[in-house]
Amino acid sequence: MDAIAGDVPALNARHGIPGRLAFAARFGGTIAELRHEGASVVVAVQGAQVLSYEPEGCGEVLWLSPQARLDTGKAVRGGIPVCWPWFGPHPGGGGQPAHGFVRTRNWHVVEGLERGQGVGLRLALTSQDLTAASWREDVSVEVVVQLDDHLDVALVTQNFGHEALTITQALHTYLRVGDIDAVTIDGLQNTPFIDQLAMGSIKRETHALRITQETDRIYQDSEGPVTLCDAVLGRRIVISKTQSRSTVVWNPWIEKSARLGDMGALGYRHMVCIETANAGSDAAVIAPGHSHALTANIRAVRA
Ligand code: BG6
Repeated sequence: MDAIAGDVPALNARHGIPGRLAFAARFGGTIAELRHEGASVVVAVQGAQVLSYEPEGCGEVLWLSPQARLDTGKAVRGGIPVCWPWFGPHPGGGGQPAHGFVRTRNWHVVEGLERGQGVGLRLALTSQDLTAASWREDVSVEVVVQLDDHLDVALVTQNFGHEALTITQALHTYLRVGDIDAVTIDGLQNTPFIDQLAMGSIKRETHALRITQETDRIYQDSEGPVTLCDAVLGRRIVISKTQSRSTVVWNPWIEKSARLGDMGALGYRHMVCIETANAGSDAAVIAPGHSHALTANIRAVRA
């Protein structure tokens, strides 16, 4: 299926598309760079994690920690980490990492894609990989990144087993903002949310969201587009989705940033996560022989 993740020449020979998809060594690991007209996307093979999305004329859309390095077994903060097959703490507790275990794995490069006008990349973890990670042997997971006049990221889970599979997951998107004080998030008003900072109590607000303190919310019954309006960068980022009824909004603010240690100086002022999820009561139940595709569609528009 693939060349070894670190073998850049072999990856380019097998999957590269001249002028459109190229592999390189960056951040201490292997990345793929996709180009379409004036836009570019960088994807790390570790974690199948998008690290950068720069549409033409709109500047970098994603926030990435200044400490980002692709060290084996260590999660990279920023871009679009893949949380799978559980979101948040492991449901059973006990030594398992938060947000699942695939964000620190080396994924297989399956193929470069030329679809319509755009360019794409497909990465996977096979059922053998997941068994080796002491999970289930009858499941596979793929990330499909597609760049054209916007960015699409799909997280596809295939259940080959004989029983239904229940997972929670997220495309944990870190968005770069000019200044958090000048940001409004539209599209979540009147939507009930689980306040993870208030012992999971359910709340609702009538106004567009502004981030003025640590924020950690799982919006439920949230299927429509969410728009981040950024007055400083003079742009709007619109996130639409499929097969997701939950949206997570997260900003660690001052004290939690200090505890995390990889947010960089004042990093919390220049990011907010708007995560396309199956979280809270919105677990994905995948029938035997079926698949589930959680997709996030990210579009930048000059305001
Ligand atoms: C968010 C969660 O999705 O991710 C937060 O809602 C969590 O509770 C945050 O703190 C960051 O998680 P991590 O594991 O990447 O530090």
